[in-house]
Amino acid sequence: MNIVETKDLYFTYPDGDGRKIILNDVSVSFELGKFYTILGSSGSGKTTFLSLIAALDK
Ligand SMILES: Nc1ncnc2c1ncn2[C@@H]1O[C@H](COP(=O)(O)OP(=O)(O)OP(=O)(O)O)[C@@H](O)[C@H]1O
Ligand SMILES: [Mg+2]
Repeated sequence: MNIVETKDLYFTYPDGDGRKIILNDVSVSFELGKFYTILGSSGSGKTTFLSLIAALDK
């Protein structure tokens, strides 16, 4: 059973005259009872992703 699921999650921040794409079509499912690790280089969007699935941002 999935407890959290994203489908085509997309997020940008303002960047000068345009937008900086941080997450581009992220589709992932987290299953009940499993442990997950989110890996990525600094600035790749890990905290942004967690903020979105925690509904701290939209
Ligand atoms: N409030 C903000 N306004 C504009 N850009 C932001 C903001 N917060 C984060 N960013 C940019 O979004 C991108 C992703 O940032 P994020 O903090 O999600 O990365 P991270 O993977 O958690 O990095 P770290 O491993 O250093 O914690 C970076 O390029 C960062 O500069
Ligand atoms: Mg972070």
